[in-house]
Amino acid sequence: TPATNGTTTQVPTPVHRPRRLRISPAMRDLVRETRLTPAQLIAPIFVRHGHNLRNPIASMPGQYQMSPDQAAREARELAALGIRAVLLFGIPAHKDPCGSENADPAGIVPQAIQAIKAEVPGMVVISDMCFCEYTDHGHCGVLNTPTRDDFQPQLGEGYLLNDPTLALLAEASIVHARAGADIIAPSGMIDGMVAAIRSALDAAGLSHTAIMSYAAKYASGFYGPFRDAAESPPQFGDRSQYQMDPANAREALREVDLDVAEGADILMVKPALAYLDIIRQVRDRHTLPLAAYQVSGEYSMVKAAALQGWLDEQRIALEMLTAIRRAGADMIITYWAREAAEWLG
Ligand code: PBG
Ligand code: ZN
Repeated sequence: TPATNGTTTQVPTPVHRPRRLRISPAMRDLVRETRLTPAQLIAPIFVRHGHNLRNPIASMPGQYQMSPDQAAREARELAALGIRAVLLFGIPAHKDPCGSENADPAGIVPQAIQAIKAEVPGMVVISDMCFCEYTDHGHCGVLNTPTRDDFQPQLGEGYLLNDPTLALLAEASIVHARAGADIIAPSGMIDGMVAAIRSALDAAGLSHTAIMSYAAKYASGFYGPFRDAAESPPQFGDRSQYQMDPANAREALREVDLDVAEGADILMVKPALAYLDIIRQVRDRHTLPLAAYQVSGEYSMVKAAALQGWLDEQRIALEMLTAIRRAGADMIITYWAREAAEWLG
């Protein structure tokens, strides 16, 4: 049979035509359900001791380890672009079994907080609260056998001690809050961390300091590039004894419920792109503000492909950020914060 080019076959005329609302950029803008603005983005900053330092991070093109003065400059430029918050990660001068520098008022993060607050008083400064950058073993708290160099985790060695870590988290949180942090963000998935930090802050007269809890944080391969950036890889084993199994969703809701009960002010799901279902479920279940952390691997894999010319970085970054917002996140911690703010104009 010869082709008819559609001239003879009878088909019903559509009654519904969704394409009407996609006909022009203005029409599409009018019906857009999800908006992305710089005020919803949080920029991570890696700080290290020194002056005038801006060291590129090899695994994360476009990201730097900065000295406090440079972090303050960065904060000023971010503020000019409409970014309202930064999240600080510290690289200490010295690592030891219990991560002492994290609770040192002259430590790297307190210095950076003060420098940023002096430069941009209105910037919301969030302090990531964990010990993995500060401990010589690279785990997120104190271990039962912290000083041996021949750990045998299968024998129960190298187990992260929960309650002793809580006391250290509480102590360091007070130090960061006194230095001027607006929000303490505990990221270690230590049981009871939110309650411990809340009561310590309150007892120290810091009841105004908020807590953003890494409530559902998964043991994820997507953190790979970060461990280079923060110089914090575990020296043995992995974080599966405290971070969550990527296979679990109900458990995430339990973790989140506990943090709400313990007094968290803002919840977080991390990573973001592979966990959009978790973001949606947490959004539907709780009324607290919800953050999503678009982690280092989510950033670096796109950067790497873009550097090969295999995909359009700006388009993909904005598509990912929009999807995370659409899934239900109110705010997004993202290494694209600065560039996205520039792109969004
Ligand atoms: C420290 C911490 C990590 C990240 C944020 N806080 C590393 C980890 O848990 O191994 C990951 C951030 C990223 O990959 O961008 N607890
Ligand atoms: Zn940690």
